[in-house]
Amino acid sequence: MEVTSETIFTISIILSLFLVSSAQSCKNYTFASKQVFTSCSELPVLQANLHWNYIPETKSVHIAYRANQTPTEWVAWAINPTGTGMVGSQAIVAFRYSNGTVAVYTTPIDSYNPLMQPGNLSFPVSNVSATYTNNEMTIFAVVGPLVNGTTFNHAWQAGPVSNENPQIHSTSGPNVESTGTLDLLS
Ligand SMILES: *[C@@H]1O[C@H](CO)[C@@H](O)[C@H](O)[C@H]1NC(C)=O
Ligand SMILES: *[C@@H]1O[C@H](CO)[C@@H](O)[C@H](O)[C@H]1NC(C)=O
Ligand SMILES: *[C@@H]1O[C@H](CO)[C@@H](O)[C@H](O)[C@H]1NC(C)=O
Ligand SMILES: *[C@@H]1O[C@H](CO)[C@@H](O)[C@H](O)[C@H]1NC(C)=O
Ligand SMILES: *[C@@H]1O[C@H](CO)[C@@H](O)[C@H](O)[C@H]1NC(C)=O
Repeated sequence: MEVTSETIFTISIILSLFLVSSAQSCKNYTFASKQVFTSCSELPVLQANLHWNYIPETKSVHIAYRANQTPTEWVAWAINPTGTGMVGSQAIVAFRYSNGTVAVYTTPIDSYNPLMQPGNLSFPVSNVSATYTNNEMTIFAVVGPLVNGTTFNHAWQAGPVSNENPQIHSTSGPNVESTGTLDLLS
């Protein structure tokens, strides 16, 4: 392809449109609860955003993980303090029971076929809650103290719910690309 100034112009327009839309969906997002988060990251896959406030005094982070979700899916956000993969992830999962009540709890992922039942994580997590509106699930939590610094591997995920329990997620496409490094000070 011949790179003309027109091409560059077109690319820069596309890029600026992308930057505007990501700014709107992340930075400018207003929470119904009126909570304000100073940092956010539009995650590259699974239509998800992570909003957070890091509190240096307590080495803890207030998070809001916001993800597109149908009524019969679960979503989860996790920190993996010991690796980059799924196993070892310390997750918070949310989904809806068939009666509409939102379930949200912590669950450590100890295998590639976890039952995803409630359990304690390897670091403290408190004030866990979730809301479901407009096909979007938002998980709120206070995580920490995080004793290993402010940069870590995180992962996010989505999958089907059946018999009131989260089921195994897809093992291809975006569902295996949903990991990254997060710097809480960025
Ligand atoms: C985000 O909000 C700020 C302040 O209200 C505004 O100046 C800015 O244009 C908004 N950005 C987008 C992408 O909407
Ligand atoms: C801190 O890092 C160590 C070594 O990788 C790990 O075993 C431990 O689980 C981590 N702790 C937290 C709270 O992240
Ligand atoms: C909805 O279903 C769940 C799971 O069966 C149950 O724990 C919860 O109490 C139910 N909530 C209501 C309001 O009935
Ligand atoms: C989680 O921790 C609490 C308080 O430390 C304890 O009472 C509870 O039994 C633990 N739950 C599991 C599933 O280990
Ligand atoms: C956690 O929730 C409790 C009880 O609702 C509240 O008093 C406390 O301020 C909350 N903690 C944080 C760090 O938001």
